[in-house]
This record gives sequence, structure tokens and C-alpha cells, in this order.
Amino acid sequence: MRALDLIIKKRDGRRLSFQEIDYLIQGYVSGAIPDYQISAFLMAVFLRGLDFSETRDLTRAMIRSGDTLDLTGIPGVKVDKHSTGGVGDKTTLILVPLVAAAGAAVVKMSGRALGHTGGTLDKLEAIPGFRVDLPFEEILGVARRTGAVLAGQTINLVPADKKIYALRDVTGTVDSLPLIASSIMSKKIAAGADRIVLDVKVGSGGFLPIVEQAQALGEMMAALGQEFDRKTVIILSSMVQPLGCAVGNALEVQEAVATLKGEGPADLTELCLVLGGEMLAAAGVTETPQLGRDRLQVLLEQGAGLEKLREIIIAQGGSTDIIDDPSLLPAAAQRIEVTAPHSGFIQEVDAREVGWVSLLLGAGRLCKEDTIDPAVGITVMKKIGDAVAAGEVLAVLHVNSTENLDEAKRRMSQAFTIGRKKPSLPPLIYDVIR
Ligand code: URA
Repeated sequence: MRALDLIIKKRDGRRLSFQEIDYLIQGYVSGAIPDYQISAFLMAVFLRGLDFSETRDLTRAMIRSGDTLDLTGIPGVKVDKHSTGGVGDKTTLILVPLVAAAGAAVVKMSGRALGHTGGTLDKLEAIPGFRVDLPFEEILGVARRTGAVLAGQTINLVPADKKIYALRDVTGTVDSLPLIASSIMSKKIAAGADRIVLDVKVGSGGFLPIVEQAQALGEMMAALGQEFDRKTVIILSSMVQPLGCAVGNALEVQEAVATLKGEGPADLTELCLVLGGEMLAAAGVTETPQLGRDRLQVLLEQGAGLEKLREIIIAQGGSTDIIDDPSLLPAAAQRIEVTAPHSGFIQEVDAREVGWVSLLLGAGRLCKEDTIDPAVGITVMKKIGDAVAAGEVLAVLHVNSTENLDEAKRRMSQAFTIGRKKPSLPPLIYDVIR
């Protein structure tokens, strides 16, 4: 087989077999096939597409490129959740302890921030002492003791995705549905959970701005889940504005803790209850998602999720003092208010732009080597539909440096659109695909 022939075959719109796809993927991971040929292949896929069996074969080949986790040593049905990435999305920090408190086992392998979207590992590392780089034995140990673990990818899961994703990022081939579906599902399946709940973000702050695209992606991933015998539920949720109010690592930890105390923003709390209800039903802990949601509501009121978070933090070496005293989290030196130029109603809070502003302040990274400042970020004070008076605070920037500050202030102000009429509120959940 030659990579060139397979590139031409896909370029001309013909079907590839599993052997052909696998040859390209394993050849790329081993270094036998160079970047430029895989780049050409990815562009051919982007333009010509893959049918469902090719997408399934690509997913299988990606899984085969590395290790897979065997979670059978953890009792019960294991349920995983994943979000396609957004701005202010701290649901993992809330959901993992809350769902574990309800009796489902959750082994969550998370990623880091890249581009305008945040990463759970960076948020967790804002907690003093918290360790995310756990060897596999310790992941199993923490999960057995507490029912949940929040870890980074210390195991060599789907190395093909790491290499291919980096290429897609620089070759204009990120937003291809079969490439996104196989990238996400290969990692989820390799991570070993029996059930998967995926939060596909719709709107400017995510990857897919259009509901129909997100729906098609959701259906493709649910079908892949079925092929690999992992029941998969897809929630299409809104990312037209940031989720909750906090954007930035320590700020998001603080908001997650407040949410587990029952004091979180309404949209964030609601999304966690919906996702968590699906996780409990998928794991067979409750008969229906609605019963799961009801159970989580009670646990939230009892503070059971917060107690579980405390257990997880202790098990992973972190300081639980931040739960009782959030002022112990890293805090920025300065707070700068961005105010409304005129009165009216908030029509739009451009989530992508808010994400880029938090990156300008130092909360994210443009390349893997960038260091993150856990203290900096944004508190969004007004959301779509809120009334605002001229001069009222729209957002607070938490800053540690004057570098990029003027641009950050200007772009933050421009992220808000204020109009005369109260707009209709965007839905939080667009669809559920089971
Ligand atoms: N998230 C992933 O893991 N992969 C993609 O391709 C897009 C979002």
C-alpha cells in the first residue's frame, strides 16, 4: 500500500477500507508517513467526507493507535461525560462529584485549555496541591475509594488524535463532522467507560455555530457509540453566551464550589442537572433522566456533591480549605470594570470573544508551551435579556498585568450588544439524542 494512492482515492471521492485507513493512521503515528501526506489526506476527507462505515473504521484505527483503559477493577457501571468545549464551562467540576454522590462511578480524563476554550485540568490546578497527573494504578485507587477521579491523560490514549488534531488545527480541517466525531469518540471509547454522555455545544463559543450541524454530529457520535457497544447520549446545549458568570481558572473553581453549595448561576445549575440526570439514567442508577435529575436536586440541597468534591480533592492531594474559604484560591492583583455605554437590554454576549479576552489576560494558551495564570479572568455581570443602565458594570476583568489590557477592555466591551427591546431568551438545551 502507498499513502499517495490512498490520498488520490479519497481526493477522487472513493471509499476507503478499514485496512487502508488503518495503514494511514498507524503509519502516521509510527513516523513512516509524513505530516504533509496526512495533511493532504485530511483535506481530502474535509472536502469529500467519509461515509458512516469509514468514520467507524477511522475511529477504530485511532483507538488501536494507543492504550485503552480497563476499568473493570472499579465496581459498578462507569459513566463518562465530555463537552465539545466552550467558554465558562466548568460543568465537570460540579457533575463528577455530584453524580458520584448519587452512586455512579465516574473516571474523568480531562484536557487542557487551547484556543478560546478553557480546559478542566487547568481549572483543577488552580486548587493548591491538586494533582491531575496520576499513574493508572492511582486513578483506579482514587476511583475505588471515592467513586470518582479527575485526572489528566497520563496514559497513552489515542496518540493518533494528538498528532492529527495538531495538524487539523493548522490545515483548516478542524470543522469536519467525521473528523470531530472520530476524534471525540475514539478518546471516549479508549477511556473505558460503559456509558458516555456528550455535551455538544452550539453557538459562537463552541466549534459548531449551527444547530443542524451539531445535531448531525450528535447523531453520528450516538451511532458510533452503538457500534462500539457504549450507550451514548448527546445533549445539544447553548454556547451562544458564556456558561455561568466566571471565565478563568480560579474564578471557575470558585463558581463550581458555589454551585455545589446551591448558590450557582441558574444556567450552569440547570445544565448540570440535565447532564447529571442523563448520566444517572445511562448508568442505570435511576430509571429515567427525570428521576436522576430529581435525585441530584436533593443531593445538591443536602451538600452531598460538595462533600464528594472534598473527598476527591483530599484523595488527589489538594487543599480543601478553598471550599470553606474561596479567598484562598489564587486572586488577581487588580479588578477592572467594563461598563455599559448606554442603557437597554443585552442582546448578545459573544462567548467566543469573551474566551479570547480571557486568553489575552493570561487565563488560556495559544500554544501548548504557554503558561497559564490561574488567577486572571472575567466575571460576566450581565447576560442576554438583562436590563442595563448607562454606566452599569457589564463585566469585571481580573488582571495581573497591563500587557494587552487596552485591547482586552475594548474587546470585552464590544462582546456585549445592547439594544432597545428585551430579546427572547435563547434555549439552554436544543435537543437530546439518545
Ligand atoms: N474536541 C475534540 O476532542 N476533537 C475535535 O475534533 C473537536 C473537539
